[in-house]
Amino acid sequence: MERGLELYSGKAKSMHLTDDPGRLIMEFRDDTSAFDGEKIEQLDRKGMVNNLFNAFIMTRLQNTGVETHFEKLLSKTESIVKNMDMIPVECVVRNIATGSLCKRLGIEDGLNLEPPTFEFFLKDDARHDPMINDYHIDSFGWATREEVVLMKRNTFQVNDILGAMFADAGMILVDFKLEFGRDSSGNLLLADEISPDTCRFWDAETHEKMDKDRFRRDLGGVTDAYAEVLKRITANS
Ligand code: C5P
Repeated sequence: MERGLELYSGKAKSMHLTDDPGRLIMEFRDDTSAFDGEKIEQLDRKGMVNNLFNAFIMTRLQNTGVETHFEKLLSKTESIVKNMDMIPVECVVRNIATGSLCKRLGIEDGLNLEPPTFEFFLKDDARHDPMINDYHIDSFGWATREEVVLMKRNTFQVNDILGAMFADAGMILVDFKLEFGRDSSGNLLLADEISPDTCRFWDAETHEKMDKDRFRRDLGGVTDAYAEVLKRITANS
């Protein structure tokens, strides 16, 4: 498959056109950013680890009945995905309170959330991705009511599948973010990426952070931690 013009370049990934209008090449770069792009660094091998990580998880989800845009690995840092009409919202599920939830609501860091909680955010860097609700999505036409129901259902389904998978590999799935889009027939599919850039994982025994919080909090060993998570989940499959 021929890699064509760059369609879009985000903070950590670039999307490229291909000779097939229905397919794009998703390139995972080594760029790592936090705090709305205020902190940016290049982390050697991170693009490769996240590409392999995402491919493994998306394939597992697909095999468990969650439809995704992922098609196949193309190279160490590239994957082929379906060309989607993206819905401009982020779906976050939290099993343990940390990050922005604690800042916003004054909740104790590390509190077990039973049942897990769900939040929608608008994808809008200039406004720091504000939290929104179902009514905003409906009134502003970002997605239909049916799509809102499906996004929530699918995100909780992913939480069940990944929560069990990470528990089996000795980790706790703390929280994660998903994005959805519509394929050429209008079907809602899971899109974007799932990687240690978009999830939080803690070691089950030590509660050591194994995700992008290592970068956000200057803990060091970022790519090594990502690679360790990948090693644990693939060794266990
Ligand atoms: O920052 P916050 O606590 O709201 O993040 C919740 C989860 O969503 C974390 O796993 C974080 O990595 C992910 N996230 C993301 N992209 C964003 C915001 C949050 O992947 N723009």
